[in-house]
Amino acid sequence: MLHKVAEYIKSLYPAVPETAVILGSGLGALADRAENAVRIPYGELEGFPVSTAPSHRGELILGTLGGKTVLLFSGRFHLYEGYSAKETVLTVRLAKALGAEKIILTNASGGINKTLNCGDFMLISDHISAFVPSPLIGKNDESLGVRFPDMSNVYDREIRKAVKKIACDNGIELKEGVYAQLTGPQFETPAEIKMLANIGADAVGMSTVIEAIAAVHCGLKVCGISVIANLACGLLDKPLTSEEVTETANAKAPQFEKLVTEIIRNI
Ligand code: HPA
Repeated sequence: MLHKVAEYIKSLYPAVPETAVILGSGLGALADRAENAVRIPYGELEGFPVSTAPSHRGELILGTLGGKTVLLFSGRFHLYEGYSAKETVLTVRLAKALGAEKIILTNASGGINKTLNCGDFMLISDHISAFVPSPLIGKNDESLGVRFPDMSNVYDREIRKAVKKIACDNGIELKEGVYAQLTGPQFETPAEIKMLANIGADAVGMSTVIEAIAAVHCGLKVCGISVIANLACGLLDKPLTSEEVTETANAKAPQFEKLVTEIIRNI
């Protein structure tokens, strides 16, 4: 199925994208910055799910950004929408099928570590996947990767080093930490946040980890960047809403777009 979809996309835009980007909640505006772009709604891609999450547009964009050919996914698929782990990584595997070598995974998350503030950018250094199913469960597709892939360097060390320099050169503050994915859609309880802090998570969200696993499996180099859209449940004495998450992500969008564009240009 993906092979056929990739051939269709290549017929519309033959240039090979070097880097793919999955745009998280409230971060979709980067898609408008791509030049000479071709936009393809997911609905046109045979067998592709539609994205139903708030502020996820549901289209892919091929064009140039930061002087490079890029593939942008404006809208991702989440477990909480009812998609299987395998379905949530169709974007990642399509990026590979189209010839991408690197993938930038972005998201909005809840900050757990007390050093994280609302609106911070966090470079993902590692992840905790223990609360979500692996996208690799089931028969292994040997044409994609090995049965038991190594996960010791998911968020590529060299890319992380480069990203820290890029942020510094552009005057953008960048923190670093471990991201844990839970299925959602409910936000966590205070007890769950305490547990996540105890096992070493700095931020929590409902995406990205499954995509990173699939990306490593098929040989894509991964960069993960999170916008801390709120402080996690229990850290402030007030209820959490998805509007708050989208609002913070939107407010940080211009700086985020600059950071991601410079990463695309320089990695
Ligand atoms: N928890 C889970 N997912 C999230 C959060 C959160 O606090 N903020 C943004 N996505």
